[in-house]
Amino acid sequence: MGKDALLISAIGAVSANGMIGLDGWLPWDIPEELAYFEKTVAGAALLIGRLTYESMDVVPEDSFIVSRQSDMVVREGCTRVASVEEGLRRAQATGKPVFVIGGASIYAAAWKYCHRFWLTRIEQAFHGDSSFPETVDLSGWVVEREHCRYLRERKTDTDVMCRFFVYRQNNPLSLPVPDCNSFGA
Ligand SMILES: NC(=O)c1ccc[n+]([C@@H]2O[C@H](COP(=O)([O-])OP(=O)(O)OC[C@H]3O[C@@H](n4cnc5c(N)ncnc54)[C@H](OP(=O)(O)O)[C@@H]3O)[C@@H](O)[C@H]2O)c1
Repeated sequence: MGKDALLISAIGAVSANGMIGLDGWLPWDIPEELAYFEKTVAGAALLIGRLTYESMDVVPEDSFIVSRQSDMVVREGCTRVASVEEGLRRAQATGKPVFVIGGASIYAAAWKYCHRFWLTRIEQAFHGDSSFPETVDLSGWVVEREHCRYLRERKTDTDVMCRFFVYRQNNPLSLPVPDCNSFGA
């Protein structure tokens, strides 16, 4: 097991008006931000909400898809899980670092277990239909790293300021011990 095994991180990007999604995809088109996401999660086990999973063209192996649909068929290398907790346990069992990649409902359920939150703040408002959950409160987290870049946004054809934060939560909750009577939960 690598040194980052058992560490749970979340990663996402949010606009100045709190949006994360539009029509099942991102409200913006910033290739370099997407590349940063892909580079950061490369080689990790991923926890993904069902709607986000369905929006992805490529899903890496060791991805755990959270859905209440017990008959859901997932792509090769992916596993359906019935809860965020089950998904995090199974992702940790791969021995890889674990990244929670959203969407909103998955961040809302998983953030208390996360050691780090890699959050890009896109300092411009975008129209969206999915918001970063208000219940995810990063105010008590420590900013471990921060850098800022202006990146091209292709829908508006402008440069937007992107602030890349890595937040650390010092005492995340431990995952609950699974209930032996509810296999897989
Ligand atoms: N900006 C970003 O960083 C970012 C990151 C990720 C996603 N997004 C965007 O966010 C949007 C999707 O987010 P979303 O919140 O609507 O959907 P989502 O979280 O990706 O998926 C929601 C689905 O996950 C399952 N689910 C959620 N909570 C569950 C729980 N506690 N137990 C079991 N299953 C659970 C349910 O699937 P079933 O209905 O199958 O039961 C639910 O319908 C898209 O627009 C996407 O592009 C943005």
